[in-house]
Amino acid sequence: MPIRIAVVGSGYVGLVAGACFADLGHEVILVDNDQKKLAALRDGQVPIHEKFLPELLNRHRGQRLTFSDDLKEAARLSSVIFVAVGTPPTERGDADLSYVESVAREISGGVDQYKVIVEKSTVPVYTSEWVRRIILRNGADPETFDVASNPEFLREGTAVTDFLFPDRIVIGCDSARSAEVLREVYAPMTDGSYYLRPESIPQPDRAVIPPPIIVTSTKSAELIKHASNAFLAMKISFINAVASVCESVGADVNQVVNGVGTDSRIGRRFLNPGIGYGGSCFPKDVLAFRAVARECGYDFRLLDEVMRINEDQRQRFLRKIHHALWTLRGKKLAVLGLAFKGGTDDIRESPALHLVESLLQEGSAITAYDPAAMERAREVLGSKIEFASSPYEAAHDADALLILTEWEEFANLDLNQIRKELRYPIVIDGRNLYDPELMAAQGFTYYSVGRAASHPDGVPSGLLRNGKKA
Ligand code: UDX
Ligand code: UDX
Repeated sequence: MPIRIAVVGSGYVGLVAGACFADLGHEVILVDNDQKKLAALRDGQVPIHEKFLPELLNRHRGQRLTFSDDLKEAARLSSVIFVAVGTPPTERGDADLSYVESVAREISGGVDQYKVIVEKSTVPVYTSEWVRRIILRNGADPETFDVASNPEFLREGTAVTDFLFPDRIVIGCDSARSAEVLREVYAPMTDGSYYLRPESIPQPDRAVIPPPIIVTSTKSAELIKHASNAFLAMKISFINAVASVCESVGADVNQVVNGVGTDSRIGRRFLNPGIGYGGSCFPKDVLAFRAVARECGYDFRLLDEVMRINEDQRQRFLRKIHHALWTLRGKKLAVLGLAFKGGTDDIRESPALHLVESLLQEGSAITAYDPAAMERAREVLGSKIEFASSPYEAAHDADALLILTEWEEFANLDLNQIRKELRYPIVIDGRNLYDPELMAAQGFTYYSVGRAASHPDGVPSGLLRNGKKA
């Protein structure tokens, strides 16, 4: 049975959720207060780079999927209202919930018969109680609504697939009635019928079909989201710390990861060392979880260390660049990758961008290439760096090539051409995309994370020019 759904906030989370709910067969109103974004969406544009999103928007735009800036009316027309507005960090590190509060206030005017208001944004524990209180304060009848939590675990870049093929669906509800409504929303997934449709989005590897649904209290669901993100961030910081030990003793972190990750209790995923985690979620959510734990009386110092290692990882990479190139003033550097990870155009809290800023401060000249994030990066960096139209153009006449984002395209470069373009055949890889021995055999001096540097014919870096001794 199609359900009338409003999704408030058409950003990375809300837009994907709305498009996917429409694909499940529901009637969806996407609400946003950004008029430019709404006009672009109505006009057929897709404001973010996300695989399968253009297909879904095309399929449902103007039919099962409409766009509005009238939140109260959208709430009135819907049985379920998902709130997916931003929850940015305040200066103290806790989540700024003012957008969530103003949405709750506005929704209350549209609560005229039973509705479920669902937190989709990542919010601290107790938010649902506040949302309920705000709606009541603004005159809604307590019998006409429930507040629930349905955390979203999608990753940018694979958001549509993650949404439709999740490991699990978590619904936090404090009433049987609201749990029933949310079960119905996800029924096409949990009864498996969605996956039998010929037009459904292609199934990824490792898909659990049908996905299990986990019903918890609202508070538990709120904590599941923060704890999941904090745990994943901890996994990344853990392996980055191990990578640093590997560098000290001359071990290979990739071998260590294989050995550790094949223990099914640990698992191989999210154990890729690199230049630290970034994005709109991990940095903010670890900070917010730390803050809410403190407020509730627990001093979660483990999370301080997760953040410290993450920050340190970027500084270590900067030191690696120094070690490879000595001074940076006046050096021309090619940068591959500006987004916070591969597969997205999102540059929020991008470790790559932070590194670019540091390199600029040290006086380097930078030419960068990113398959999707250059437009957004240009808005932030303006003319402080040059933008290239390919990895090869970026590498042209550069003193070294830096790989900062794990785009698939960067793992499949034509190394011969890269070597010819570079002034010196030096590659500093923050994502371990290449095999050190292979790189040395191809004539590169190659630095990566948690593995020893490799040099062609054992000749130290800097003494080669275009693969030949200078
Ligand atoms: C954000 C948070 O970062 C994440 O933690 C949370 O889980 C969901 O919201 P994201 O979708 O990436 O994730 O945010 P963003 O792309 O900034 O989208 C938020 C949207 O809400 C924007 O389109 C903004 O215009 C809209 N918005 C914001 C409203 O419609 N009303 C508001 O009051 C505030
Ligand atoms: C994350 C969570 O994975 C997702 O469940 C949640 O809903 C939102 O936050 P996202 O921020 O889109 O998703 O990206 P993710 O793939 O988790 O990567 C986050 C950061 O960690 C990136 O900077 C990435 O490069 C880095 N990372 C990830 C590593 O450095 N190593 C890894 O092994 C995995």
